[in-house]
Amino acid sequence: MRERTARSADVIVIGGGAAGLMAAITAARGGRQVVVLDHNAEVGRKILISGGGRCNFTNLDIRPECYLSQNRRFPYSALSRYKPADFLELLKKHHIPWHEKKLGQLFCDNSARDIVTMLLAECAQAHVRVMTDVKVTSVRRSDQFSVETSAGNFSARAVVLATGGLSVPKTGATGFAYDIARQFGLSVIQPTPGLVPLVFGAESDRWVHTLAGISLPVRVSCGKRVFEEALLFTHRGLSGPALLQISSYWQPGEAIRIDLLPGQNFEQLLGDIKKAKGKMRGPAALSRWLPQRLAHEMAGQYAPDRPLVEWSDKAVRHIAQSCHRMDVHPTGTEGFAKAEVTLGGIDTRSLSSRTMQAEKVPGLYVIGEAADVTGWLGGYNFHWAWASGHAAGMAL
Ligand code: FDA
Repeated sequence: MRERTARSADVIVIGGGAAGLMAAITAARGGRQVVVLDHNAEVGRKILISGGGRCNFTNLDIRPECYLSQNRRFPYSALSRYKPADFLELLKKHHIPWHEKKLGQLFCDNSARDIVTMLLAECAQAHVRVMTDVKVTSVRRSDQFSVETSAGNFSARAVVLATGGLSVPKTGATGFAYDIARQFGLSVIQPTPGLVPLVFGAESDRWVHTLAGISLPVRVSCGKRVFEEALLFTHRGLSGPALLQISSYWQPGEAIRIDLLPGQNFEQLLGDIKKAKGKMRGPAALSRWLPQRLAHEMAGQYAPDRPLVEWSDKAVRHIAQSCHRMDVHPTGTEGFAKAEVTLGGIDTRSLSSRTMQAEKVPGLYVIGEAADVTGWLGGYNFHWAWASGHAAGMAL
């Protein structure tokens, strides 16, 4: 191994988030001298706030189909070489307890801090130098890379861009990786907010705001994409897991279809109650299956406020269809401030799917959310960070 000064290393990882720390640990275990630079006062800020403080660190059902990218096949290689079981092995080594919450989503029993502590312990064990409060301002390349920072210049034969995406700027998120990518001639797919609440400005959808606080299980769809999970009405529009999932597929101008009673035949149910309780009025009937305020809203919009016996079969069919196929027209998203992830990013068509190295810039690697790979809600994004970090670390 070559002698290195304090300011030179084999590898400089820019960004001490999930992906950067995993790449650093893997490369250092392989004998590389690695420095991690992060401008925050502590690494892993997003890990700490994730999963309601318990970090949904992976999912038992990791499949490439659960990722969005302009280059759909890109995640296959890294995901096939780093599985949820590999990360669980690491947790076992550090005696970190975890549990499955639902839908294969794995969370820490205690705190997300367990994950950061574990990653830092692995860094220490592998002699990774982790430097915080160091803002990287530029990256240049001649015979090796020169990295300019608020703490002076560093040099290395390889640089890993692991500065993540733009979501939640208050955590230290920046578009730094995109700037460096463009500087080196890589293209960047327009970053947009993903896993984000949607807002409603159109007069026809204003009623959505009046239902703030209501949550119920639904099926939402946009085009061919369908998710079944909880929906939450907010003061600004719609949120909740089902809506966050579909938001990553939604394009401005498109409608989102909501089935308020998935798996039920509401026409049949209403017909039955009409026969059994003819004197019951619309809102009371609907509130047997829907939260009360929503039942009142739906009844007010679509159902005659008369006893059920007076409802025609056509009226029953109409209200049932309205509940199964409610179309809403979002006017936008709550933006990067509220988005859990960033869609788009550095175009993976210019990267090797095996190593994460830029094909035309030897020594430059892109991992984690900085790349144009975005997972579903439920641990998929951290898993991509681990898997892509591991792939780069093995190749460094
Ligand atoms: P990440 O953003 O984690 O790290 C980038 C690092 O680069 C940061 O530490 C930053 O300070 C540093 N940086 C940026 N610019 C720099 C510069 N110029 N110089 C030096 N350092 C710089 N996912 C999931 O799978 N399960 C979950 O439970 C959650 N929960 C969740 C909650 C919330 C509120 C958010 C916002 C996001 C999630 N996510 C999630 C998504 C997940 O946090 C995200 O996909 C990963 O953190 C991405 O990891 P990266 O390492 O790529 O970037």
